Amino acid sequence: MTKPVNLSTKIFLDSGDPQETKRALDTLGFLDGQTTNPTLVSKNPHITELKENGALTEETIWNEYRNVASEIHAVIPEGSISVEVYADDQTDYESMLEKGRELSRWFDGIFVKLPVTSVGLRVAETLVKEGVNINMTLCFSQEQAAAVHAATRGARRGQVYVSPFIGRLDDTGVRGLDLVENIVRMYGEWGSHVLVLGASIRNLEHLFGCFERKVDIVTVPIAMIEAWKAHGIENPLGEQDPSVLASIPFVDLKEKDFTAYDINHPLTDAGIGKFSSDWKNLFSK
Ligand code: E4P
Repeated sequence: MTKPVNLSTKIFLDSGDPQETKRALDTLGFLDGQTTNPTLVSKNPHITELKENGALTEETIWNEYRNVASEIHAVIPEGSISVEVYADDQTDYESMLEKGRELSRWFDGIFVKLPVTSVGLRVAETLVKEGVNINMTLCFSQEQAAAVHAATRGARRGQVYVSPFIGRLDDTGVRGLDLVENIVRMYGEWGSHVLVLGASIRNLEHLFGCFERKVDIVTVPIAMIEAWKAHGIENPLGEQDPSVLASIPFVDLKEKDFTAYDINHPLTDAGIGKFSSDWKNLFSK
């Protein structure tokens, strides 16, 4: 399958396994990038084996993560590859900044994933000025997306992504695609430099819903890529039944300093907690 000419959305794989990168490329015939996160890396078969043998430490796990990212890079050398810093509620600005800088030097094409928290936003503000590519992750509200735009003002278009998590919002009974739509609209009105990356995609309705909303990028698990191929791009599904999930209203936010937005969201905190525990579980005895 070659990329449909009318499909403007970039397609990334959501996975910590380079074997899946090869499968995705074979399946689609193209692949624009890949996103990883601590949970996905913990499921990588080689890393799982090392963990079972008790061969991982807090130091060596980063070398293993780098090897995984390098293998992905070898499959899609022109691709954008997102790698995530470690974060928990104790992680301070200096340590997150240092890790972000380190990850950014792994190779060309790296996007450093930072959580949309006050620390993550401060780190993003610094890193974009140093020319680092950023992917602001665990986004669950329009205010958080507004803060990403404000914190990274001055970055070139394409240097910063924001990742709204569609499936995790759906899990709580609200329509994740509405958040995506609201961010796309707000960024359009503001002429934002930030690209919207639809994440936490669980089904073809999410995927096609992102295409219809002209989302810049989607990141898609291998199972969804294979389902898309089986379904065919030329025959989009209908929208999800809007009555099933509560809608998220658009908010007419004004541009202001990023510290002035209310960026707290319980799902961001829960997401950081889960990533942190999956990561620590790799090397704790
Ligand atoms: C990608 O950047 C995200 O980490 C990923 O899409 C999250 O997906 P999940 O909600 O299915 O864990």
